Amino acid sequence: MTYEIDEPFADHGLVLPGEVHVATDADTLYDDLALVFTSIALKADEERGVFHIALSGGTTPWPFYQRLLIDTRFRAVPWERTHIWIVDERRVSDDDDRNNFKSLRESLLEDIPTPPSQVHPMMVLRDDPAGLYEAELRAAFGPTEDPPRMDFVLLGMGGDCHTASLFPNSDAIHVADRWIVVNEGPNVTPPDRVTMSYPLLNAARQLAVLCVGAKKTEALQRVAEQMRSGPDRVNVPITGIQPTDGELTWYLDAEAAGA
Ligand code: 6PG
Repeated sequence: MTYEIDEPFADHGLVLPGEVHVATDADTLYDDLALVFTSIALKADEERGVFHIALSGGTTPWPFYQRLLIDTRFRAVPWERTHIWIVDERRVSDDDDRNNFKSLRESLLEDIPTPPSQVHPMMVLRDDPAGLYEAELRAAFGPTEDPPRMDFVLLGMGGDCHTASLFPNSDAIHVADRWIVVNEGPNVTPPDRVTMSYPLLNAARQLAVLCVGAKKTEALQRVAEQMRSGPDRVNVPITGIQPTDGELTWYLDAEAAGA
């Protein structure tokens, strides 16, 4: 089953790496993304019998999660065969409002039939949380030296062009030999973080960057400007998102796109 999504808002003028989908308003954008997400889910299920997704924190995705729950058009998502991973986590307890998985549980996980064994929070307060999460990835994907391939990764972007917890000039930016890393220090917005690294994120089949509202316009224009001379993951971290053998699509409303 494939879904047709609304004809994107064409003349936005924003040149970003990958595909750019601009919807006239946020409500339409969440609808479009939910349709695409459902198509990707059905394809993964048909081809491999499992759907691995990695979701980001932040507030932008909440209406998208709600759309998946309440709109009958998206009931086809095979949640029973879905594994839910987290792109990044703050090193706080799981009942702390800053904890991304806590928000994810409240906005999505409590209302879908995904088995608990397929829901993967990061054990951020344990010793070596990165090693623990990498071991969990290996257990789910099987023994592999290459980074496991998520079917769908949902990313946001901060005003400083960070994504996941890959902040400008932070240590995790330079990690090429790990899939999960602790990121801390003066260039990491507190609290300390645990994040997927570029190698793991860029191994994904589908990467979606979701930006909504005028508050994202300047950062998006900065990305477009940076890409005129090429990626600079140190200062503009989201330009380090370059899928190895997958697709990157920016999902923007007209406000964020400055259209
Ligand atoms: C986090 C997120 C982060 C987020 C951006 C955008 O842990 O904070 O993973 O990368 O996606 O900061 O956040 P908003 O969606 O709230 O603007």
